[in-house]
This record gives sequence, C-alpha cells and structure tokens, in this order.
Amino acid sequence: MLRQSRQSITGTILVADDQAANRELLAELLGAHGFKVITVSDGAAALQELSHTQIDLVLLDVMMPHLTGFEACQTIKSNQDTCLVPVILVTALSDKQDRLEGIKAGADDFLTRPVDRAELLARVQSLLKLKFRTDELERAEAVLFSLAHSIEGKDPYTHGHCERLADYSASLGEHLGLGEEQIIALRRAGVVHDIGKVAVPDSILLKPGRLTEEEWKLVREHPVVGERICAPLKSFRLLLPIIRHHHEKCDGSGYPDGLRGDQIAVTAKVLQIVDVFDALTTERPYKKAFSTTDALETMKEEVAKGWWDPQVFEEFDRLVRSGATNFLSRGAVAGH
Ligand SMILES: [Fe+2]
Repeated sequence: MLRQSRQSITGTILVADDQAANRELLAELLGAHGFKVITVSDGAAALQELSHTQIDLVLLDVMMPHLTGFEACQTIKSNQDTCLVPVILVTALSDKQDRLEGIKAGADDFLTRPVDRAELLARVQSLLKLKFRTDELERAEAVLFSLAHSIEGKDPYTHGHCERLADYSASLGEHLGLGEEQIIALRRAGVVHDIGKVAVPDSILLKPGRLTEEEWKLVREHPVVGERICAPLKSFRLLLPIIRHHHEKCDGSGYPDGLRGDQIAVTAKVLQIVDVFDALTTERPYKKAFSTTDALETMKEEVAKGWWDPQVFEEFDRLVRSGATNFLSRGAVAGH
C-alpha cells in the first residue's frame, strides 16, 4: 500500500471542489506526477469517500455547498480513523480570516488560487512524507500490540487482561489528574507491559506448579526484556519506566531494580495497582476470583506491608468504590 521510493512519493489524493474546472485542473496536475486522484463535488461526499477508501491526503475547497471545507476538515480531524490524514485547504484569496479559521479546523496546510503547480507539488509531497512516516510508526506499534496479545492468548486465565489493564490504568491515571501523554502511555503500557514474557518458555509461563529458583529468575527478567523490545520506538518513550518497573515494590523488595518509594514513577505505580487488582479479581489455576471488596482488603494489607504506594492505592480504592468506572473483572462479585 505504501507508495514511497527514494525518487518519488505517490499516494491517493482526494480532491473536493464544487467547481468541475478546479477539480479537473488539480486532478490533471497531480495525476501527471503519478498520484491517484479521486474527485468529489462537496464536503459531505469527501467524508463519505474517506469512510470507505484509503486516502493519503485531502485537498478541500473552502466554499462548497452542504459542508464547507472548514466543516469537512474539522470532522476529518476529530475522527480517530482519519485524524492523521493531512488536509490542505484551497482558498480563493490569501484571506487571513480564512487561514485562521482553517488553523482552528485543524488544516495542515493552505494553497491559494490560482494554484501554482510547483507549490502544490511541494506541499503535497512534504505532507505525504510525514504521513508515511507516521504510518510506519503505527505499523510498528501494531506489531508490538499483536505480539502482546499473542502472549496473553497463551494463558486462558489471563484472557482480556491487556485490555482491562489498559482501561483500568487510564481511568486511574485520569482520576489522579495525570497529563494526557501519561494517560496515553498508561493505556499502551496496559497492553504491552508483559511483552518481555516472549523470552520466557511456555513450559515455565504455563507451569501450574511452583517455579524453581532458576525458572523464577527467568520470569523476573521479563520487565527488562520488555523495556528492551519497546525502547527503539520513540513514541513508547514514556512507557519504558512503566514496563521496567511494574513489578517493583515501595519497600524495595520488588524486581528488577529493587527501587523504593519515590524512585518508582507514578505511572508505574498506577499500573502495579491495577495489575494486582486484576490478578486478584480473576480466577487463576491456584485460586478463585476475589470479590472487589476482598481484593481491596487484600491490597490494603499489602499497602501496610509496604508494597504499594498508599496514596495511589487510596485514590484507586475511592475510584472503585465510587462506581464511576466499572472495575469489575470476570468472576468478581460486587459488594461481597
Ligand atoms: Fe509482569
């Protein structure tokens, strides 16, 4: 699907303009440089096209019937599926007000009519270069997520653990007032935190009995291996301390680094709390699922032992009991 080579960048471009002559001109200019061009005559038709066709870039006329270029742009940018598709607004005049409105609508760039061929190509190509880089990054993330899910899928007892942890940790992060970037990191870490278990043989990972000291040593490596796997991805930078430290304990008895209290990032503490809660409230080969109340009681005892951060736990306890988020996992019974 990628159309990038060292010599040229191509892709599928959607042109929306109510004037047939304008559509034809843009289609001709872009088509001559190897782009596949789809043309539509208004903003609503552009959105319709985007909903079922893989589009790499959109050129929107500002003044169109049904839906203006600004409105169409705003819709494209607020939709999770299309927000990364670059949008260029084509305006009749270099009107400052139009530009301001376009920036507010999330436009990536502007072109003024009459369209200059060289300028059009330069803007389209530079936005596409960026778009394809983002696509590559997204694919790398998708590979890591599917690897994490395949590890989770090996063990029937941890089914759904990744998604629950992503939801739980993001909810707790929001409740604690963490920044948006940290919440995104928590959501992703919820999925990939145990990715390092790829280095642990199934015979150990799925062993129903007690692990030997040697086997346990291997299991304890998984946060370090996980950090190493995710480290090359720049967009995963904030996940690394969460992955590496999700088995640390505040009293220094955790692994892999034996960190204490404030040495552990708050995001890692959030993941620890929800990870323990999920383990307690789901059935495992060696135990039944705890009720929410029993799980919180057990965790309270563990806080007293010095394992979990008292403040983070207190807020988690408050959040669960408030019922604002559904923290009930499979098998858990509320209020018992
Ligand atoms: Fe883990």
